[in-house]
Amino acid sequence: MITNIEQVLKRGPTTSKDIQFATGMNQAAVSRRIRAMGDGIIRIKIGRSPHYMLISNAFGGGNRLLLSMVDPHGNSTSIGCLRPLAHGGFFLEKLPSMPSVLLGEGKNGLFKDLPYFLYDLAPQGFIGRQIAASMAAQAGFPNDPKEWNVEHIGQYLTSNGDDLPGNLKLGAQAQLRLRSTPVAYTMKDYPRLAEAALDGAIPGSSAGGEQPKFTAFCKERSAHVIVKFSPKGDDATAVRWRDILITEFHAAEAIHAKNFPAAETRLIERDGRYFHESQRFDRVGEFGRLSMISLQSVDAEFAGIGHGWHRVMKALFDEDLVSWQHLFDTAVLWSFGKLINNTDMHLGNLSLSIEGDVFRILPVYDMCSMGFVPKNGEVRPFRFDSPNLDDLTMFPKDAADGIRSAASQMARDFWNRVARDTRISQDFRDFLAKGNPVDLVRMAS
Ligand SMILES: Nc1ncnc2c1ncn2[C@@H]1O[C@H](COP(=O)(O)OP(=O)(O)O)[C@@H](O)[C@H]1O
Ligand SMILES: [Mg+2]
Repeated sequence: MITNIEQVLKRGPTTSKDIQFATGMNQAAVSRRIRAMGDGIIRIKIGRSPHYMLISNAFGGGNRLLLSMVDPHGNSTSIGCLRPLAHGGFFLEKLPSMPSVLLGEGKNGLFKDLPYFLYDLAPQGFIGRQIAASMAAQAGFPNDPKEWNVEHIGQYLTSNGDDLPGNLKLGAQAQLRLRSTPVAYTMKDYPRLAEAALDGAIPGSSAGGEQPKFTAFCKERSAHVIVKFSPKGDDATAVRWRDILITEFHAAEAIHAKNFPAAETRLIERDGRYFHESQRFDRVGEFGRLSMISLQSVDAEFAGIGHGWHRVMKALFDEDLVSWQHLFDTAVLWSFGKLINNTDMHLGNLSLSIEGDVFRILPVYDMCSMGFVPKNGEVRPFRFDSPNLDDLTMFPKDAADGIRSAASQMARDFWNRVARDTRISQDFRDFLAKGNPVDLVRMAS
């Protein structure tokens, strides 16, 4: 049976010779057919020889999904088109304004799966589960966002893509939609917004993370915020979560005091809850935006290290994707986290922005004493053995000493600030009265 050219191309990237061999056509006939297929086929050099790939439709949005970027003034620019490939994966067709890091590790826009930076935009965590429940009711999507496949994610992004984390939009619809002025809330509204979030209401914009939260436009700040809140009441769990939110507030303050980057936060007590409000650094005013890609997605594409902010940043530094200064700052922040009992420094808890053709770290968020959270529903007594910071062997000795010293000073300041805060629980106060946990660290030589 003679195979036609589409059938051959559906198997994967194919050279003209392969097509000639599989179809029996001569070179001139193959060239004619390829030309006739016009925009439905792309030609990319893999190694030294040009390969052809067949384009297909995806997400009900045709075969050319516009990718645009919103700038700090709120204006959108088209930066490329996502072209679904018939054999699987995607090709990102570049327009002149596209930052080169979006083209991925291969630098050619070819992806075996969705491009790495789109995974952050899929529903995740507390708010993601509300979104998935709604999409399940409306469109039969899986209830759990972890079970969404590429088609679900793509359909969600192209139909709800105008208010996602960061500054990217996928699909022409998102770019065409009229901008609506965000409703401005004050902290007086937060108790009501928290109740609504717990009842399953989806706030205007999505954000990841497991803790109960909502997003809002804050009138007092004239800025978009992400607000996490503690459980209502005075039981042991509620009290412990309040302590944790207090540590998150002081961590940001201690980081700022040493001029390292952290989100601008406020801690608000209202109607039996604590609200930790963090000003969004991926938003500017009502409509402006800045890029934000999680270290997790960047690692998956460029490094594959999996654990340790500074380890991933070192691999990125080795590939000229981040500066030495940003690697150094990350190592200080990571070490600081270790010294304040932050047991949750996964790669989703640090984000990068794009600066020219490299990445830079964004202000730190979710930096708190997570080691004290209730485990399996049980509130455990306060206990924390400060670790040795012996995980810095990748740095020259001088740099490692500098990192240890900066992180220790910052952490000592952090524990002092927490101990002075009159809002912490008696148990936490008693624990800190034993001394500053950092002074118990045995410095690695
Ligand atoms: N100030 C901020 N600006 C922009 N995005 C933020 C900010 N704080 C958090 N985020 C985003 O929201 C997500 C959830 O916030 P996070 O504080 O990590 O919540 P959780 O404690 O539930 O993990 C983060 O992973 C990050 O993508
Ligand atoms: Mg988090």
